[in-house]
Formats: sequence, C-alpha cells, structure tokens
Amino acid sequence: MADREHNIVMLGPPGAGKGTQAVRLSRRLGVPHISTGDILREAVANDTELGRQAKGYMDAGELVPDELVIAIARARLAREDCAGGFVLDGFPRTVPQAEALGEVVDELGREPLLVINLRVPEEEIIRRLSTRRTCEECGGIYTAEDGDIGDPCPDPDCDGRLYQRSDDTPEAIAERLRAYAAQTAPLIEYYDGRGLLVNVSGEGAPDDIAQAVYAVATD
Ligand code: AP5
Repeated sequence: MADREHNIVMLGPPGAGKGTQAVRLSRRLGVPHISTGDILREAVANDTELGRQAKGYMDAGELVPDELVIAIARARLAREDCAGGFVLDGFPRTVPQAEALGEVVDELGREPLLVINLRVPEEEIIRRLSTRRTCEECGGIYTAEDGDIGDPCPDPDCDGRLYQRSDDTPEAIAERLRAYAAQTAPLIEYYDGRGLLVNVSGEGAPDDIAQAVYAVATD
C-alpha cells in the first residue's frame, strides 16, 4: 500500500503508452489500475447490456457516450480498494468527464488529482497501434515483435493467445486520433490551468519512461 494517497490520471493520445505505464505505476504504488477501455472491452466480450451499447462506438474509434462512462467510473472509484488512491487510464477524455471526476474526488473527500500527460508524436502513435498485440487472457500489452496474431502469450504464466484489437485498424486509428484532438486534447489546458498537469515524454524505452512517471508521481 502507498504511504500516501495517489490519485493519478494518465492522459495522452491513443497509443501513447497509458496502459503500459499505468500497469507498472499501479503495481509500484500498490493502488488499482482502472482502465475504462478494459472495462468496456470486457463488457463487449461478455455481451452485457453495457457491452452491446458500447461496441459500435469502440469499433468505429469513437468515444462511448459520457453518461455510460461516467457511471462506470463513479461506481469503480467508490469501491474500497481505491481508498489509498488509483491510476486512471483512459478516463477522463472529455471536459464533462473531467468535471464529473472532480465532483467524485470532492464527494469522496480525496486528495487532488495528479494528471500525467504522456507526449508522443503522431507518426510513432500510428506505428505502435498498427503493431500492437494484446493477450486475450491476461490483457497483457505487446508488440508484433513479441508475437503474431494467434501466437501464445509471451508471459510464461499465461495460457492465452495474442490478438489484434478491433479498433487497431487504419480506419479506426484515424478516427481515434480525430476524437482525441477534438474531445480529449482540450483536457491538457483544463488541467494545466488548475495546476494539476505534468508532462512526461512517452518516447524511449518503457522502463525509462516508467522511472520518469514514478518520479513525478511520488515527487
Ligand atoms: P482505450 O482502451 O482507453 O484506448 P486508447 O486511449 O485509444 O489507448 P490505447 O489503449 O490504444 O493506448 P495506450 O495509450 O494505453 O497505449 P498502450 O500502452 O496500449 O479506449 C478504447 C476505446 O474505448 C475508445 O476508443 C472509446 O471508444 C472507448 N473508451 C474508453 N474510455 C472511454 C472514455 N473515458 N470515454 C469514452 N469512450 C471511452 O501502448 C500501445 C502500443 O505501444 C503497445 O503495443 C505497446 O507495447 C507499445 N508501447 C508502449 N510504450 C512504448 C514505448 N515506450 N516504446 C515503444 N512501444 C511502446
């Protein structure tokens, strides 16, 4: 468990490495990693009502409506395991979501947020997303160098196989970048204006980035 409350938001464009870094940071701080993308993908895989509502938006690379995602985040953040903090990955990504998150933090009497903005150039983002592989079983994030679609998960403790996310097609990637620029990039100014934002370069070796992210989170 962390020595103090760490209420962290990982911000950044699709493919910036939010998931890669959020997993590492949450393990190191001993707080939950909360990815709205993972929660939605699980709902789609289980064919729940939420999954059926979200699937079309996700496959097209569009954002799922605010009211659905805000309800998910509210319920998750109110759970006991978030008492010492959390690492949010993929939420908020619109101004209404950021406002809702601010309300939740106030209602729960939590410490202020720290927003870590991972910066990566667009050509690198497209390269990363086109070559991403994900494990169907453990959700591990890999690249085409680790294995092809259908190959076993590189994690020796996992029996899963690698797949390509349905939103990692060229059309969906282009739409996700458009959605990011129009709806999520304004959050940089939103949080910077509130003195809550720190920029970290998302380029370089994942271990080096993890070190920089941890240093910012524990400063
Ligand atoms: P979500 O799952 O959140 O996707 P995203 O934001 O598009 O982000 P990604 O998961 O694609 O990328 P990432 O930044 O986590 O990068 P990663 O670590 O995987 O959302 C998916 C969809 O769900 C949305 O489009 C929307 O429809 C819906 N949704 C989710 N949240 C929502 C919300 N709040 N509101 C509305 N709708 C919502 O890394 C990418 C690749 O790069 C990997 O292959 C990785 O191995 C590699 N990589 C990582 N770091 C490095 C590095 N340093 N060097 C080289 N390669 C690297």
